[in-house]
Amino acid sequence: MQGSRILLIVGGGIAAIKIPELIRLLRREGASVTPVLTPAGAQFVTPLSLSSLAEAPCHTELFDLTRESEMGHIQLSRAADLVVVAPATANLLARMAGGLADDLATTLLLATDKPVLVAPAMNVRMWTHAATQRNIAQLQKDGIRFVGPDEGEMACGEFGAGRMSEPEGILHAIRVALGQSRPLRLPPEAVVSLPSRGVLSDRHVVVTSGPTHEPIDPVRYIANRSSGAQGAAIAAALRDLGARVSFVTGPAEVAPPEGVEVIRVETAQQMREAVEAALPADAAVMAAAVADWRVRDPQASKMKKDGSGRQPDLQFVENPDILAWISQPGPQRPGLVVGFAAETDDVLANARAKLARKGCDWILANDVRPATGIMGGQENAVTLVRADGSEEWPRMSKREVARKLAERIAASLNGNAGKDSE
Ligand code: CTP
Repeated sequence: MQGSRILLIVGGGIAAIKIPELIRLLRREGASVTPVLTPAGAQFVTPLSLSSLAEAPCHTELFDLTRESEMGHIQLSRAADLVVVAPATANLLARMAGGLADDLATTLLLATDKPVLVAPAMNVRMWTHAATQRNIAQLQKDGIRFVGPDEGEMACGEFGAGRMSEPEGILHAIRVALGQSRPLRLPPEAVVSLPSRGVLSDRHVVVTSGPTHEPIDPVRYIANRSSGAQGAAIAAALRDLGARVSFVTGPAEVAPPEGVEVIRVETAQQMREAVEAALPADAAVMAAAVADWRVRDPQASKMKKDGSGRQPDLQFVENPDILAWISQPGPQRPGLVVGFAAETDDVLANARAKLARKGCDWILANDVRPATGIMGGQENAVTLVRADGSEEWPRMSKREVARKLAERIAASLNGNAGKDSE
């Protein structure tokens, strides 16, 4: 984190008392911190304590900056690599979701062109309230990243979700966010430059891609192998046919294509929530290699070995199956749902069973034994499996697979059976 610049907005909640510790951790990692304290936050911590730990001035009021120069807040919001809001109260999240700019914190958040990470903190009833959940969904759509909240006992005596993540958990999320140097949302001009008409214009397609990372502790995670190459190629091919694409991606090696709406997530649970927030859609292509399990209780601190050979006591919980969930009948179900089946044995039989089990319309089955070179490679050999039969496609580049699939999707949505026209 050496040299990274963090703009840290401290909202008004009792969790603000954990912020001096977060600043200490960030400084120890070599990051510079510019604190911004809201008037409500100043009820819990003082500007002096934050500025002393950060070794930088703590900004508190809008006029502080306008006095310096007219564009002070713009400069401040952009002279950072990442904007962090911790604690983010229900009120602050609502103002962010509504695009308000009525104090220094919200003005900076509206003016920034940098990724934003928020650590919510509030009472469990406020967290689960429909209004807060609506605001969260909107903010996720806007590309805002979240860390927490955790479950636990609250300062008000209640128990449940709403506790701000511990400083070490926030530190980990900051590290991940800084690793992704691209802005979370593409600038609008990238979208404007798209071809305006195509066989999929006026259609919305959700594509999942890449692996998910399931944390064990702040430095370790479990994941599937996936470069994200096939998912990115599919999103690009759909875009080329004029579709509006919501691209929900885990931490992949391959960069997302230009001209699609990129929603970055880390875990399977976040991926499911992001897919839900992106609906309704005309079609969905689930190309992500989702981790089937997550660790029940990820540790807030790094687990240490003690030299005795004792193994870590890890309990696993099954992750939501996003493909099976989106395939369930209901008003939100996309008209066409496509899944993948990465198999090492009995490819066709397993793919057929998966199609029936998950309830999707098509499955692209591929043989991912290491000898095929498909995982992480440029090429793919797939069989398109439908309830009424299957079709083996010749080995071709992942780009060509994507193009062929996009054409099939267009044919199907436009009233064709989606079989080869040649
Ligand atoms: N998938 C998903 N959510 C999960 C697991 C898988 O959406 N939690 C989707 C993948 O994106 C893919 C399809 O389901 O489109 C099949 O993934 P695969 O890993 O092949 O199958 P699994 O469901 O993991 O089944 P198994 O482990 O039995 O092979």
